[in-house]
Amino acid sequence: MTNAPIRPLIAGNWKMNGLAAALAEATAVRDTLPSLGGNAAEVMICPPATLLAQLAGLAKGSPLAVGAQDCHWAAAGAHTGDIAAEMVKDAGASAVIVGHSERRADHGELDRIVRSKASAAHRAGLTAIVCIGETRGEREAGLTLTVVRRQLAGSLPDAVDPTNSVIAYEPVWAIGTGLTPSTDDVVEVHAAIRAYLVERFGAAGQGVRILYGGSVKPANARELLALTDVNGALVGGGSLRAEDFLAIVRAAL
Ligand code: 13P
Repeated sequence: MTNAPIRPLIAGNWKMNGLAAALAEATAVRDTLPSLGGNAAEVMICPPATLLAQLAGLAKGSPLAVGAQDCHWAAAGAHTGDIAAEMVKDAGASAVIVGHSERRADHGELDRIVRSKASAAHRAGLTAIVCIGETRGEREAGLTLTVVRRQLAGSLPDAVDPTNSVIAYEPVWAIGTGLTPSTDDVVEVHAAIRAYLVERFGAAGQGVRILYGGSVKPANARELLALTDVNGALVGGGSLRAEDFLAIVRAAL
């Protein structure tokens, strides 16, 4: 359904993994990217907040982009333990993940909270990577497309365009399990997401990247990334080691 080719995004979500020593993996990614054949794909690492500024520092001036894993909706104030989108930007990141299923589950984040966080990202000049995806029970009940549409409607603010927003479809049951949906199922959901984006945002919705996430690894990346309307991947465990992550990046080129 897409018109112009969309530059894929391969984003690594380190989740709550990585002490300072893990910066060596990011350094290896940074140092290898230039030899991989230009900038056909955008490559990003989203480390824990403790490493954000350091990673942004080492990535500066390189093709490696840096993102955070969450932000608060307010720009500043009495929110102990939270991080504003403006702080994420100030630390040197260009993007922030919002609405990851682990945040929805661990912190009770509802669609309307995710939407306000995505708005905060836009306010701060960050790209919001908005995560959606069904649980196993929802899939088994035949509710996948209903759930995905409901999450998109509730989680996306109005000003979505290809520069400020990315959608990540991450079936909850595929995260960290080694399971992935069939290629037909991925194509079906991504087509439904694209249709929703075009219906709501018009031409802008045509160019918004839709990532697949959930047990992406070197062995399955090429097949997944070749599917229609799969414009990249959000990678958890497969992003922690430079060797694996770079193999996934190569599959996108
Ligand atoms: P895994 O790649 O470890 O399944 O995690 C996916 C994910 O949740 C990325 O945000």
